[in-house]
Amino acid sequence: MDIRNKVAIITGASAGIGLATAKLFAKNGAKVALAARSKDKLNKLASGLQNSLVVLTDMTKAISIKNMVKEVYNHYGHIDILINNAGQGFDGPVEHIGIKECRYIIDLNLIGPLIAIQEVIPVMRKQGGGVIVNISSGLSKMYIPNMAGYASIKSALNTISLTARKELADDKIVVSVVYPYMTATDFEKNTITSKNYNSKQEATEPDEENNNLPPPDSAETVAKNILEVVISERAEQFVRDWLATGK
Ligand SMILES: NC(=O)c1ccc[n+]([C@@H]2O[C@H](COP(=O)([O-])OP(=O)(O)OC[C@H]3O[C@@H](n4cnc5c(N)ncnc54)[C@H](OP(=O)(O)O)[C@@H]3O)[C@@H](O)[C@H]2O)c1
Repeated sequence: MDIRNKVAIITGASAGIGLATAKLFAKNGAKVALAARSKDKLNKLASGLQNSLVVLTDMTKAISIKNMVKEVYNHYGHIDILINNAGQGFDGPVEHIGIKECRYIIDLNLIGPLIAIQEVIPVMRKQGGGVIVNISSGLSKMYIPNMAGYASIKSALNTISLTARKELADDKIVVSVVYPYMTATDFEKNTITSKNYNSKQEATEPDEENNNLPPPDSAETVAKNILEVVISERAEQFVRDWLATGK
């Protein structure tokens, strides 16, 4: 899709990958609807972006997500692109996954994006098409200790995305997945650690696997990949090619 003059909802636009994506999309001529909970951060961002709209949204609340889509449609009269990017990390071994925290992350990283997809489908169908991009993670292809909660929920998002892609093809609604590698944002700082899990001990142990990993990407690199996938309408975009192998 050519994004010039197109209306794009970007969730999690107040920070990190979403913020970089909002800037890049606006620079390339899109009208950006900026969704997140942090009013001041969104207003600051919007003040520098033409044709933007702040939509305060809590992606764990169905009513808030439905309002987001309504508000954007009422404002612009169109919704062409949905970038489901808002999300949070979640660490801990399977044995100690906190069920309450796990339910919250399911709401935020899976059910929230699903509701947003369901809300934009009728709008896009009526318009004759659209593009939906769901931000997953390279971890969703891997089986790394302490990452099962986060990775399995992102993996469910992959399945919803690629199945919806087939279901919606006749409506010319394209659904794609982007798999970032480790990205230099506040993601780690914001990651929820399962209760009962001794993360202090983990943090003091040398993590040989992590030490051998390439350095993180910038949020701007991931944003470029998100733009690329909207333009190319590819099914899947791996920010690092080797993530596709799941190793
Ligand atoms: N950074 C990485 O290493 C990495 C790697 C792979 C995948 N990812 C994925 O990339 C996406 C963006 O992550 P990031 O690195 O940019 O993280 P980040 O810097 O922590 O930003 C997270 C964004 O999500 C929003 N958010 C969190 N909870 C929300 C809620 N309940 N309702 C609405 N918005 C909410 C935050 O806004 P408010 O707090 O203002 O609501 C913020 O804008 C996530 O889906 C993440 O899983 C990240």
